Amino acid sequence: MIKLPGLIDVHVHLRDPGQTEKEDFFTGTSSALAGGFTTVLDMPNNKIPITTFEKLNEKIESARKKTVCDIGFYAGSLGDNSKELMKMEQYVFGLKLYLNKTTGNFIIDEKKLIKIFGDWKSNKPIIIHAEEDVIDLVIKAVKKTGKKVHFPHTTNQEQFEKIILAKKNKLPITCGINPHYLFLNKNDVKTLESFALMKPELASKTDQNFLWKNLKHIDVIESDHAPHTIKEKNSDHPPFGVPGLETTLPLLLTAVSEKKLSIDRTIELCFENPRKIFNIKTGNNTWIEVDEKEEYIIDNKNLLTKCGWSPFAGKKVKGRVKKVFIRGKKVFENGKLLVKPGSGRIINPEL
Ligand code: DOR
Ligand code: ZN
Repeated sequence: MIKLPGLIDVHVHLRDPGQTEKEDFFTGTSSALAGGFTTVLDMPNNKIPITTFEKLNEKIESARKKTVCDIGFYAGSLGDNSKELMKMEQYVFGLKLYLNKTTGNFIIDEKKLIKIFGDWKSNKPIIIHAEEDVIDLVIKAVKKTGKKVHFPHTTNQEQFEKIILAKKNKLPITCGINPHYLFLNKNDVKTLESFALMKPELASKTDQNFLWKNLKHIDVIESDHAPHTIKEKNSDHPPFGVPGLETTLPLLLTAVSEKKLSIDRTIELCFENPRKIFNIKTGNNTWIEVDEKEEYIIDNKNLLTKCGWSPFAGKKVKGRVKKVFIRGKKVFENGKLLVKPGSGRIINPEL
């Protein structure tokens, strides 16, 4: 059995409020604990995007009654909310912007990006969904403004090389990777079909190898937990996104057992760097216990996420979360949640 710090996932979509048929704060944070994450940061692309102080407050109030782990939030912008951004800033860990199409169609263009960079007076990171067609314009804007930017979806060689170069040039840029780009590639779409549909799309096997070879340039592993119902995924217009909170750590521990990654580096990517980059202060007397030798097959019926499926179902992994403790209290053990909705904490970057 090994003991690790309670992990931090800086990139989840818990769908609450607005799309609680997919997930809600209780099921989403239960899924986090089952996966060894004791702190999550939730994205603003809700059905009604979180672009105002009022919407942010509504979201926080809903979370307060339901969460079972620590949770913080991001603000969003479509380029028309400079005053609201100022009001929201002290309660959030950063600002999330989308330059490409994805769930919610919460999208901006280059002109809006420049405007929002001016509107965001804070030193907190701006997280930008930027695929290879728009990555250059973001890097150019960072050069010009000196704003701190985090790229959450390192996906393929072309885009990653540009990020590596920008980091070498000492721009204030950090980057994250989602487990699906490390453990799946576009050949998997043949079998998984819409259950492997996400944004950015899965890349080639060559890209996947490039990501593994250059993992040293990655700052954060973030699940991009993006649940949708099985019915929606089977529909004629399936939405983008896959759940990931319960599979991220087992997949990483499997890679550790295969010597593709070290345990220290895993802690750096899933705890230390997220803490530093996003200025997260949780973690006191908070830890997880993991049986690094236990092998099991990922099974949809054991998942706590409301959506009830995983693109990794059927895959054998090595490394299982056994117990989770938050501030000294046992909150999860052997697949069972031990606490009630509302026992989690809303975290505020200023505290
Ligand atoms: O596949 C994705 N799904 N990519 C994103 O960027 C958003 C996410 C979602 O919210 O469903
Ligand atoms: Zn996302």
